[in-house]
Amino acid sequence: MKMARMVLDRDYRIGQVDKRLFGSFLEHLGRAIYTGIYEPGHPMADEEGFRKDVLALVKELNVPVVRWPGGNFVSGYNWEDGIGPVEKRPTKLDMAWSSTEANAVGVQEFCSWAKKAGSSVMMAINLGTRGVDEARNLVEYCNHPSGSYWSDLRVQNGAKEPLNVKLWCLGNEMDGPWQIGHKTAVEYARVAHEAGKVMKWIDPSIELVASGSSNLYMPSFGSWEQTVLEEAYDTVDYMSLHQYYGNAEGDTASFLARSVEMDAFIDGVVSICDAVRAKMHSKKRIHLSFDEWNVWFHSNGRDQDYYDSRVWKQAPPLLEDTYTFEDALLVGSMLITLLKHADRVKIACMAQLVNVIAPIMTAPGGGAWRQTIYYPFLHASRFGRGTVLRPVLDAPQMQTKALGAVPNVDAVAVEAEDGSLTIFAVNKDMENDVLLQADLRAFPELKLRSHIQLHADDVKACNTLEAPDCVVPRNGEGGTIENGRLELRLQSLSWNVIRLG
Ligand code: AHR
Repeated sequence: MKMARMVLDRDYRIGQVDKRLFGSFLEHLGRAIYTGIYEPGHPMADEEGFRKDVLALVKELNVPVVRWPGGNFVSGYNWEDGIGPVEKRPTKLDMAWSSTEANAVGVQEFCSWAKKAGSSVMMAINLGTRGVDEARNLVEYCNHPSGSYWSDLRVQNGAKEPLNVKLWCLGNEMDGPWQIGHKTAVEYARVAHEAGKVMKWIDPSIELVASGSSNLYMPSFGSWEQTVLEEAYDTVDYMSLHQYYGNAEGDTASFLARSVEMDAFIDGVVSICDAVRAKMHSKKRIHLSFDEWNVWFHSNGRDQDYYDSRVWKQAPPLLEDTYTFEDALLVGSMLITLLKHADRVKIACMAQLVNVIAPIMTAPGGGAWRQTIYYPFLHASRFGRGTVLRPVLDAPQMQTKALGAVPNVDAVAVEAEDGSLTIFAVNKDMENDVLLQADLRAFPELKLRSHIQLHADDVKACNTLEAPDCVVPRNGEGGTIENGRLELRLQSLSWNVIRLG
C-alpha cells in the first residue's frame, strides 16, 4: 500500500484558529434569503418569518460570522430601502442578478436572524453606485447608541440597542468588469480609504476588509492588492480573497488538485501584504479574509438561460448547484488549506450558506436538506478549533493535467484546548488507498477515539430532497496506535476525521 508519513509535535505550531475561519455568506441572490432563510407562511416559519428548520441546520454548522448582503448585489444596493415599515419599502431591480428585490429583509431583519443563528454579521457596503456618505450613515445607523438622525431612526424602527456590527467589507470584487460601478485599482483604493476612515471615526472599534482580486486569474492580481494597500494600509485590517473551482471538464484528478493552487494564492497575497508593510515601515500586519470560497460550476449554463431571458423574477432559483461527492472532497481539501494558513487567514466565508452554491438546500413550502459539502464544513467547524500544528507530511505524488505532480494526500492537525487532537485528511488518489503513518511520539497520552469517514463509490453521488442521505459520514475502520505511532488506512477518495484524546 502507498504510504503518507506525518510527524506532529506540540512545539511546531502554525497558530491559533480564529473561529471566524468557519464563516459563511448570504447574499440577496436567488433563493438564499427569500424561500431560503426567510419564508413567512412556511409551516416552520417563526414570528419574524424565518424558517426554524433552516436555522437548526445553520446552528448545527456553528457559523460564527455571516457576510451580508453581497456579493455583487451590494454594489447596487441602497440599504435605506430595507428599513422602516415593510409595506412602505420599495421594490427595485437588482442588476447584479437580473432579479427584483422587494426589501422585506433589510439591515434589522438580517441582524435579528444572525442573532438567532448564533452568528455575528460581516456587513458589506456599496462602493459601486455609492460611497463615503452612505457608508458613514450606515455605521451610524447600526452602531451609534442614539442622539443622532440615523441612530434615532434605528431606535424608532424598533432597535433600541445598537446592532453592533464589528466587521465590514469595503465593497465587493471592485476589480471585476461585471461589477456594478467597477473601478480601477486607484479609484477603488481612494474611495475605500476615505469611506473606511470616516466609518472608523464613527466607531473606532470596527474592523475593515479591503476588496482584493476576484480570483487568482484576474490580470490585475497582485498589482491591485499593492495599489489598494499603498493607499489604505493604515485604514484597513484585512485583504480579501475569493476563489471558486469547478470540474466542467470532468477531470477529477485536476479538480481535486486545486487546493495546491489555493495554497499558492494565499502565499501570494501574504507576500504582497508584507511587501507593502516593509515598504511603509509599518508595524501593523494585514491579515487575510478569504470571504468567498467554494465549488461553483454545476448551475452555470442553466443560469445563463435565465439571465438571457431578462424576466426579472423575485427570488429565481439561481446558482443552485447540486453538489457531488467529489465536490465534498475538494471542499475538505480547501478547509485543510485554510487551516494550514491559520496564522494569516483570520476570516473565511464558505460561499454561500442556503440554496445559492450552498451546503443547505430548501424546497419552498417544503423540507430542507444537507448537501455533500455540508459534512466537511461541519467537521472542520466542530473539531477544527484550537491550535493548528505544522504537519511534516511526506505523501506520494499523483499526476494531474492541470497542475502536474501534486501530493495525493492533504492533511493537517488541530490541537483543542482540552489537549485532544484531530487530524483532517483527504486521500485524493483515485486508485489507491494510502496508509497514513503519523508519528505522535510527542503525544504519548493520546488514544485513538474515533475515525469518521466520508466516501462514496460514485464520485458523482449527491444528496437530494428525495434522497437526502446518499452521501453521509460513517465510522471509518479506525487504525492502530502503538508506541506513539498511528497507522490508519485512508481509503481511495475519502475525507477523514481522526480524533485522538
Ligand atoms: O457568490 C456568488 C458571487 O460570486 C458573488 O456575488 C460575487 O462576489 C462572486 O463573483
